[in-house]
Amino acid sequence: MTPAELVQQALTARTRAYTPYSNYQVGAAVLTTDGEVVLGCNVENAAYPATICAERVALTAAVAQGKGRFSAIAVATRNGGSPCGVCRQVMMELGPDMAVYIADESGAYRTTTVRALLPDGFDRDKLAE
Ligand code: THU
Repeated sequence: MTPAELVQQALTARTRAYTPYSNYQVGAAVLTTDGEVVLGCNVENAAYPATICAERVALTAAVAQGKGRFSAIAVATRNGGSPCGVCRQVMMELGPDMAVYIADESGAYRTTTVRALLPDGFDRDKLAE
């Protein structure tokens, strides 16, 4: 699975977004260390805070499917939007070593990492002190 292929998977997930309020569709595709892909899309709600972002849908679905180790995530929007702060925190929890591919609707993408997106993030180490 190449980065470009993972981005294509995120674009497929994006077509399933449920966005009657923002009309801003987001797709995510998380790649496990075993080479499996789990998809997510944003799912909005009339009670706005109940909305779930695509990245967290993909990562939590993967956990629910028994997958726990992730090497990359691709996120696709119409304009290359970057993951929100809450999703960065969840990425740090579940896949701190992931590469992150941030794509637009054409499939063009830039590459970053979870650690670059959330420098000095809060993690489990703080709870052990
Ligand atoms: N959204 C995501 O799915 N991921 C992000 O990282 C940023 C925002 C969604 C939430 C909402 O459905 C829409 O984009 C507009 O904020």
